Amino acid sequence: MSAAPPAQPDPHTDAPTFILGIDTSCDDTGLGVVALTAAGPQVRSNIVWSQTVHAEYGGVMPELASREHVERIDTLLPRALAEAGIALSDLDVVAATSGPGLMGALLVGLMYGKGLAQALKIPFYAAHHLEGHIYAAASEEGLQPPYLALVVSGGHTHLFDVTGGGEYRLVGATRDDAAGEAFDKVARLAGLGYPGGPAISAAAERGDPLAVPFKTPLQGQQGFEFSFSGLKTAALLAFQRGARPEDLAAGFQRAAVRSLVDTAVRAAEALGRETLVVSGGVAANRALRDAFGQTGLRVAFPAGGLNTDNGAMIALAGAAALRDGQPPSSLDGGAAAYLPLAPLPDLPHFGTSARRKAR
Ligand SMILES: Nc1ncnc2c1ncn2[C@@H]1O[C@H](COP(=O)(O)OP(=O)(O)OP(=O)(O)O)[C@@H](O)[C@H]1O
Ligand SMILES: [Mg+2]
Repeated sequence: MSAAPPAQPDPHTDAPTFILGIDTSCDDTGLGVVALTAAGPQVRSNIVWSQTVHAEYGGVMPELASREHVERIDTLLPRALAEAGIALSDLDVVAATSGPGLMGALLVGLMYGKGLAQALKIPFYAAHHLEGHIYAAASEEGLQPPYLALVVSGGHTHLFDVTGGGEYRLVGATRDDAAGEAFDKVARLAGLGYPGGPAISAAAERGDPLAVPFKTPLQGQQGFEFSFSGLKTAALLAFQRGARPEDLAAGFQRAAVRSLVDTAVRAAEALGRETLVVSGGVAANRALRDAFGQTGLRVAFPAGGLNTDNGAMIALAGAAALRDGQPPSSLDGGAAAYLPLAPLPDLPHFGTSARRKAR
C-alpha cells in the first residue's frame, strides 16, 4: 500500500509557505529559500557555491561537476536555512531542477531534493531550469502573463512568448552560439579571463566601441533569431590584426547588445506585448540593462545574485507552480539533459546546430 501524498500547502494565506529551491544543473551548487504569502513570493536566502575546479580545463568537466555537487550540497543546506531564519522542519515544499543541464550534475540536486521532501513528508516540485531564470525576473516585479521573456545565458538565447502560467511559445532563438557563450569566447581569445561576461563588461568601459567595426548580426531579418558566431570570428580576426582587447570588448558588447535589444523590441511590437522579462547570466550586463531601459517597454530584470544560476530562482518557479494550482511532481520522475520548454518553431535556420543548442 503506498503512503498518502503529503498535503499541499495553501499559498493564499498570510502564513508563509517556505519553499526550498535547488539547482545543480551545471557548475554552480545553488540552494535558496522563498517565503510565499498571499502578497507574493519573497527570496529569503540564496546560497551559491561556484565551482572553480574547471578553470584549468577551460570548460566544465561534467564528472567533476557532479562530484563537487555531491561534496557541497549537504553543507549548503544549513546555510540556506540559517540565512532564511528557519529550521529544517519549517520547510513546506522542496523544488529542484530536473533539466535541462548536465545529467550527472542534475541528478545530484534532484535526488537530494526528492529525498528531503520524502523524509519531511512535504510536496516536491520538479522545475525547469529556464522557468527558474524567467521567474527570477518575473517574480521580482510581480508580473503576470502575457509577457515576452528573453533568456540570455551561457547555454541559451531564447525568446519566449509567455501567454499564461506554464504556457510558453518559442518565438526566436540563436542559430549558433548563445550570448553568454559568445561573451566567454571573445573574452578568452582577447586574454580577458573567465567568466567572460563580467570581464568583457569591465574592459569595455576602457575601450572605444567604434575602433573595431562589428556589424550587428542578422540586421534586416523578418524573424526573431539571433546569431553570435560571426561576432566571435570578427573579434578573432581583429585581435590577430592587433586590435586592443578593450576596443574589441567595447565593439563586441555594443553589437551583441544591439542585436538582443533590437530583436526583442521588434518581437514585442509584432506580438503586441508591452512587458519584457530579461534573465540569465547576460542580464547582469550593465550596457544591456541601460539599452533596454531606453526602449519605452516595461522591462524586468532579476535582482542581484539571481541572474546566473541559483537555487532561489528554482524556489520561485516552485512558488509559481503552487500558486497556479499545479499538482506536486511524482517522486518517480527523472532528470533530462535535453528538455525544451516549448516546441521548436518551424523556421528554416533551426537546423542541426540550433536544435542542439535549443535545449
Ligand atoms: N555582466 C555580464 N555581462 C555579460 N555576460 C555575463 C555577465 N555576467 C555573467 N555573464 C554570462 O552569463 C553566463 C552564465 O549565465 P548562467 O549561469 O545563467 O548560464 P548557464 O546556467 O551556464 O547556462 P544555461 O542557463 O543556459 O544552462 C556566462 O556565459 C557569463 O559570461
Ligand atoms: Mg542557467
